[in-house]
Order: sequence, then C-alpha cells, then structure tokens
Amino acid sequence: MDVMTAIDQRHSCRSFDGEPVPREIIDHLLHAASQAPSSMNAQPWRFHVATGKTREALSEAMAMTTVHLQEYMDIFTSEELQSYERFYSDLGQAPVILSVTVPCVHDDIERINGYVSAGCAVENVLLASGEYGLGCCSITAPVWVRDKLSEILELGDDWEIVSLVLVGYAAEKPLAPAHSQNIAVFHD
Ligand SMILES: Cc1cc2nc3c(=O)[nH]c(=O)nc-3n(C[C@H](O)[C@H](O)[C@H](O)COP(=O)(O)O)c2cc1C
Repeated sequence: MDVMTAIDQRHSCRSFDGEPVPREIIDHLLHAASQAPSSMNAQPWRFHVATGKTREALSEAMAMTTVHLQEYMDIFTSEELQSYERFYSDLGQAPVILSVTVPCVHDDIERINGYVSAGCAVENVLLASGEYGLGCCSITAPVWVRDKLSEILELGDDWEIVSLVLVGYAAEKPLAPAHSQNIAVFHD
C-alpha cells in the first residue's frame, strides 16, 4: 500500500473481533515504530505489549475511566457518551494493548521532544497496521488512571505512559470522520 493511501484509509477503530494478532505481525508494527524520527535520534519510546492477563488488567483499570466521561456531558450527545462508555468498559475487545511510554523528565524541551517523538512512533504503528489488515486506536484517556496502569506494567517512577494503542482486527469498518483541509496559513 502506498503511503498516501495508508494515510487516507487510516481511521480509529473502536470495535474489534477479538481475534488474536500473530506475534510476527506485532513485531512488524514495533519495527515501524522503531523507524520513527526523534529528537537527536534519542528514540525515547518504550512499547509495552499486553495480551492475556496483563491486557485484562489494563482493560479493567481503563473501565474505571468511564466515570470521567460525565465531564464531557456538554460536548457529547448522550448517544456518543454511551458509545464511549461501552468502548472504555472493555477497550472495544482489542486483543493487544500497546502502552507507549517515555522517560519522565523535568526539562521542558526534553519533555516536548519525548512526546512529539512518541507521537511519530505511534503514527507509524497506526499507518503500518493497515498493511496487515489491522485496526488501531490511539487513546490518551488513560491519563485518568495512569497510576494504576503504571503499577500493572511495573513502570516505576522513571517512565510515563503517553498513550495506549489498541490493536486488533476490526469488527466493523471504522467511521471516517471529516478532516478539515483548511489547516494552513501560507506566508511568502
Ligand atoms: C493524541 C490523541 C489522543 C486521542 N485520545 C483518544 C481517546 O482518549 N479516546 C478515543 O476514543 N480516541 C482518542 N483518539 C482518537 C481520536 O478521537 C481520532 O483520531 C479523531 O477523532 C479522528 O478520527 P480518526 O482517527 O478516525 O480519523 C486520540 C487521538 C490522538 C492523536
């Protein structure tokens, strides 16, 4: 698949059929992540790959985030809130959860570099997943329960979770929300 097709076809998948993803394919996704650009080629990311019991533990912790959805009552319709509630209660039955982590740092520049670099690595995973017929969703909602997630993954104090990437085979075609083309201000 050419890059522009992969970019145009990528959309967030929030409903999976539960079918396990072969280890070999997960390795391809991790390879895609490893090729991302990063400040000073620091490659600050570490991906924790959870299946089985660890995946269940992460999912149970994430189910606790549904209480925070009430904060979005004014933004979302009740239908949207219900669908997010369903999604967070079992993470769409995604069989694989990638927890993307970066080192905890105090320097502002280093912190931004870490987040942006991790974002590049995540996008590589999202784009590569299409090549293997997989669906993905990158979520930062875990910030609500990050201490619990960190405990499950035994991250200690030196690493923080920036997002979870849910990976699996889509149960249904993801929605394709509109993306504005009006994003640039040109200067000459
Ligand atoms: C930084 C970031 C955080 C996101 N956090 C969440 C999240 O917490 N929950 C969720 O359902 N989707 C999350 N998403 C997915 C976005 O909602 C999605 O990318 C956006 O609505 C555009 O839809 P599309 O990915 O299908 O094109 C996140 C995406 C990004 C890049």
